[in-house]
Amino acid sequence: MKVVVVENYDEMSLRAAEIVEQQVLKNAKSILGLATGSTPIGLYGKMIEGFKNRSVSYEQIKTINLDEYQGLNRNHPNSYHSFMYENLFKHINIQMRNTYLPDGQARSVEEECERYEALIDRIGPVHLQILGMGTNGHIGFNEPGTPEGSLTHCVELDESTRKNNARFFESPDAVPTHAITMGIASILKSDRILLLASGKKKAPAVKKLMEQQVSEDFPASYLWNHDDVTLIADRDAYQLV
Ligand code: GLP
Repeated sequence: MKVVVVENYDEMSLRAAEIVEQQVLKNAKSILGLATGSTPIGLYGKMIEGFKNRSVSYEQIKTINLDEYQGLNRNHPNSYHSFMYENLFKHINIQMRNTYLPDGQARSVEEECERYEALIDRIGPVHLQILGMGTNGHIGFNEPGTPEGSLTHCVELDESTRKNNARFFESPDAVPTHAITMGIASILKSDRILLLASGKKKAPAVKKLMEQQVSEDFPASYLWNHDDVTLIADRDAYQLV
């Protein structure tokens, strides 16, 4: 794992955007793996700036997102469909038909998980996967206890995850209890992975990651089993290492 420690959130976002832009310039038909949460919002902002100011084009790329809440309509303001549209897709020249997220309202969750994994295999491999990390080390919505071989599946969210994500909802009870997420093995299929971490709240998780002990108790540690991962952490997130 390559580790880059930067000053702050803004610099983390900028460095990440440079890597995304290099990927897209190298291959206009890149497949990007995208994430939600507060962490990549700055990166998406920088990508939008790059599109507007430097004409970086996303016209031919495809995107595959990590996860989606179960039970939320895709037009719900807190769905990850809406998140991606509001924070990135509507601002750049991506073709919406080339953007993929799990369907949180599929009638059969099992079939949806199989469909999504097959899609990753058909369209992928993802050239560059963006990841954030939960305070409990989750990636996507792969909570502690998720096996390394896991493919796209339905998960019951940890109480800590629901609490952390409650800030986006009108009340903690409104946070969905389940989600569909790419599994660990689905994520590790990517050619290259960019893990972002910012702020002192993430410092214990970054410390744990850097102990290099691969364990299902801390899903981000599986990233040590991939040979092309870059962690960009800001000083606050890296302060306990
Ligand atoms: C959610 C997402 C994850 C994300 C995590 C961290 O649970 N499913 O993909 O990495 O939150 O969120 P944040 O970046 O807001 O700290």
